[in-house]
Formats: sequence, structure tokens, C-alpha cells
Amino acid sequence: MWRFLENTITKRFSGCRLMSDVPKSQLRKMTALELQHLKRKGKRISMLTAYDYPSAMHAERALFDVVLVGDSLGMVVLGYETTQAVTMDEMLHHCKAVRRGAPTRFIVGDMPFGSYETSPEEALKNAYRFIKESGVDAVKLEGGKIRADTVRKIVNSGIAVMGHIGLTPQGISVLGGFRAQGRTAIKARSIIDDALALQDAGAFALVIECVPSIVAKAVTEAVKIPVIGIGAGPYTSGQVLVYHDLLGIMHHPHFMKHVPAFCKRYAKLGDDINNALVQYRDEVVAGTFPTEDFNPYKMSDEEKNKFKELIAVDELERKKNAEILDTKLRQQDEYEVVKLY
Ligand code: KIV
Repeated sequence: MWRFLENTITKRFSGCRLMSDVPKSQLRKMTALELQHLKRKGKRISMLTAYDYPSAMHAERALFDVVLVGDSLGMVVLGYETTQAVTMDEMLHHCKAVRRGAPTRFIVGDMPFGSYETSPEEALKNAYRFIKESGVDAVKLEGGKIRADTVRKIVNSGIAVMGHIGLTPQGISVLGGFRAQGRTAIKARSIIDDALALQDAGAFALVIECVPSIVAKAVTEAVKIPVIGIGAGPYTSGQVLVYHDLLGIMHHPHFMKHVPAFCKRYAKLGDDINNALVQYRDEVVAGTFPTEDFNPYKMSDEEKNKFKELIAVDELERKKNAEILDTKLRQQDEYEVVKLY
């Protein structure tokens, strides 16, 4: 099994020394129980979102403990205004690609808005689709106490569930937008109750989003299960960030609106991509790319000479045909212009 995994990964990342240097123990997929063990041992948990094969490969190569196929893909990959429009089929499509790109990571699939709220039975049906069709290891759903029965149903049916409390972006119509949560003592207290209810229902871990550090700390201390923060300060059991946000991938104005203030940007890939694309386009237009250096497919001198002789035989005929075709195309082109104006 180890040899198989190593071969797969070494092949996939050929040219990358990192994977072969990685101890085998780290190429092993975590389990929900081991993630809980990390919290007990005081070790922090690293989590990253990924949405497709390349981002999953990066998460695999960087050895994140958990990879989340977040419904944030609606905003950063599909261009929706919010996550509410994301469908089950879209989530499954992306989860499958992430599974292929990150074979040894513990992958959590985010249940989209409308896939788990109507009844625990409906939620279970959709949770099974995640596991059976996309091969993820667990599902995540948003909401506190109100979702406890649903979480219990799914967990009792054999699927590990990660909860999501604090800011729950799917509920922005009710929350009144992407706003920090738990900023009054009563609301903060209620978030602790949410966490306890989800733990009691069997959730193996929680995400806590956009709350003051003091609230995230109190939640982390109140429950035994790991609490993964995003916009929740330094006192949680681990951290998750959105791939596109931390890498600074996009830089058009609409996207800037959605890069959260809590996100540290570790790179400016959007600028690098833009510079590279503009340079490539300019070189194509200027005829400076490709040069002969970028055509490695060679022909022997003997074959070249034969080739020249072959095409010389019917060269006159081809030139004549090319002229006929050229005249025809010009006539058609003029006809189109006349038609348009
Ligand atoms: O959808 C997502 O990416 C998430 C994270 C922000 C936790 O839920």
C-alpha cells in the first residue's frame, strides 16, 4: 500500500523533491479521531480549501491535515455573488476533482445551501451522495443548536460531520450580510451553546468563523473536539483559509470586495498571472514567441531533403489551388461586409 501511494505521488509530483523527502507517516490520511487526538496533544491543525485538481495537488504537496472543498467555490471559482446559489451537483463535481488531486488528505465536503435544512433525512441522503459519489471523508454543514438533530442523524448513519458556527455565510439573508458574530455577551454565550450542542450530536470538529478572539477561545476551551478558526483569532485548535484569498489570486474589483479583512495574503499570484499573460499575449502578437528554441521536434537532414522533394512535385498545383481559395475567401468576406452595412 505504501509503495503504491509513494509511486502515485512521486509520479504525480515528478520533478518535486519534496514528496519523496516526506516521511511515510505524513503521507497517510488523517482520521477524524486523529484530528481530535491532535487537539488533546495541544498540536495545531492546518486546513486549507481546495476546489479542483491543481489546488488539491498543492494542498497535498504542502501536507495540510484537512482539505475543505468549501462552498466558497461559488464565489471564488464560479463567480456567484454569494454561496447560496451553489448546488449539490456543483459541489460533487469539485469534490471529485479534489479527491483525485489529494489522495492522502482528509477531505471535507461542504454541504450546500438547501441540501440539509429541510429534514435530517434529506440531509442524510445528500451526505451519502458526498461520500459515495465524490469519495470525501466527511461533510460540513452550517448552523448551531438548530442543526443538532441533523448532525446526529448523519453521524449515527456513519458519516463524520464537521460543524460550522459563528458567521454562517449561507445564512446571510437572515444575518444581514457577511458580518462578525458573537459581539455581545449574550450572543457569544449562545455560540458556546451551539458548539456544545454540535459536540453532543457527534460532530468530530467545528469551524468557527468571524467572531472575536475571546469568543473563539471560550468555545475552544468549552468543547473537547477541535475548533478550527477563520477570522477567529489565535486561540483555536487550528486555522482554515480560502485558497484564493491567501494566495492573492484574483485582483479585479468585484473580488477585492470579498477578500476578508482577517485574511493574511501570503502571495500575490493574481499580479503574477496577469503579468505573465500580458507578456505572453504581447510576444505572440509581436512574433517573438515562439522562437525555434521552443520547437524541439526535429527531422533528420535526410528526411528534410525527401520532404522538400515531395512538396516540390505538386507545388505549382497547390499554389494555383491556394490562389483560387484566397479569391473565394476574399469575395465571401466582402459579401459579409456588404450584408452587415
Ligand atoms: O466555504 C468555505 O470555504 C468555508 C470556510 C470559510 C470555512 O466554509
